[in-house]
Amino acid sequence: MTASPPAVPGGYVFDNDSPHSARHHASLEGALDPLTLGHLREAGVTPGMDCLEIGAGAGSVSYALLRLVTPGGTVTATDIKPGRIAPAPGLTVLAHDVVTDPLPEAAYDLVVARLVLQHLPGRQAVLARLVRALRPGGLLQVDEFDAGHEPCLLAPSPEDARLYERFTTAKTDLMRAAGGDPTWGRRAPAALREAGLTGLRIRPHVLVRAPGTPALGLQLHHLAHLAPRLLDGGFTPAELDRLGALMRDPGFAAATGVLYSVQGRRPARAPLSCPRSEAT
Ligand SMILES: C[S@@+](CC[C@H](N)C(=O)[O-])C[C@H]1O[C@@H](n2cnc3c(N)ncnc32)[C@H](O)[C@@H]1O
Repeated sequence: MTASPPAVPGGYVFDNDSPHSARHHASLEGALDPLTLGHLREAGVTPGMDCLEIGAGAGSVSYALLRLVTPGGTVTATDIKPGRIAPAPGLTVLAHDVVTDPLPEAAYDLVVARLVLQHLPGRQAVLARLVRALRPGGLLQVDEFDAGHEPCLLAPSPEDARLYERFTTAKTDLMRAAGGDPTWGRRAPAALREAGLTGLRIRPHVLVRAPGTPALGLQLHHLAHLAPRLLDGGFTPAELDRLGALMRDPGFAAATGVLYSVQGRRPARAPLSCPRSEAT
């Protein structure tokens, strides 16, 4: 695998170099690591396995994987901007653009991609390369949101609920404008099947965004990170201030979109046919 120079992430509306990204990654870890890691443990991730996580962000999943596969296993954590992944013994960290940089073939027992593919134009081609990076019988886990329905459940007033829903719509519009598909989670199972994976396991999850929860922390991050573009798109500074206050109001609750955690295996190689000896 070769390292690429720092690049501007194509299709990715957020940015690991932003001052908001520490909260972004902490919220992802708090909200989603229990789900992601629970499914990996259930699938039988054990010592000795070689693992790859692409778009690893701040690396929380990779660190946990390292604990699961030690001794004897390896974890490679890649990201187009890997600066937030602190080095750890046994962890290989690489600057790597999964769209354009090569991946070794048949090198891993496990490949994990969480909230990466939906941001990438050409995600089906990337998926095909992730499958080829697996050894026969290896496992791919893809965790992706379908952000097509993120309703406000409780708000102090109907105007607040409308403002929040305008914000979630604007956020998904920005992701689409960058070439992402914010609803791709619902298409992930079919995409994994099209890529040739078998034994699919599909697990949908919805979380509550209430003040103090990591799922709401994620939404506050999105608001802060996208604020300049939301202002360009017609929100007023007063509306953005109200959104920030609303999401901290004890009378506020919303639902996340659906997070689809999907696993599939690269088919094991067909057994080598042993031609029957003719010299009997
Ligand atoms: C929403 S974050 C998810 C981070 C991490 N997977 C998690 O769930 O905690 C998406 C990550 O994908 C990375 N990324 C975006 N485009 C990429 C690309 N073309 N190749 C590799 N990583 C990319 C971003 O830098 C970011 O760290």
